[in-house]
Amino acid sequence: TERTLSIIKPDATTRNLTGKINAKFEDAGLRIVAQKRIHLTPAQAGQFYIVHKDRPFFGELTEFMASAPVVVQVLEGEGAIAKNREVMGATNPADAAPGTIRKEFAESVGENSVHGSDAPETAAEEIAFFFSGLELVG
Ligand code: GTP
Ligand code: MG
Repeated sequence: TERTLSIIKPDATTRNLTGKINAKFEDAGLRIVAQKRIHLTPAQAGQFYIVHKDRPFFGELTEFMASAPVVVQVLEGEGAIAKNREVMGATNPADAAPGTIRKEFAESVGENSVHGSDAPETAAEEIAFFFSGLELVG
């Protein structure tokens, strides 16, 4: 089985959508093996999204991610990385398939409710960014 890092973003936590989003993950067969609610500083958000530092939206992205609490979590399951991205839907909610989290809940390409790791290497890095091994309870 595989693990991936998921973040429920500020636009979703502030609208009390954590439970509905978690239901989508669990219904898809993903197990939440770690989860915590935290409020990132802009510097921490920038460190997490450092690969995007030269993109024009970097400032907007890090400011948004530090604007309110997020829920960071580790999802586990068969093909968890791809499965999670399927449940999330396309980055831009306008392009997201029916039934996906972003189609149902996201407000815009920036405020798009969830983050999910995109490959095994980034999943390992992103999980280690937020969690110690002791916090992962499979
Ligand atoms: P993730 O699954 O979130 O990684 O999305 P992605 O891999 O499909 O998109 P990408 O890595 O290009 O962008 C990462 C995140 O940056 C997105 O989820 C958005 O929150 C944000 N982002 C992407 N494009 C824009 C944009 O044009 N404007 C703003 N404000 N944010 C953007
Ligand atoms: Mg990405």
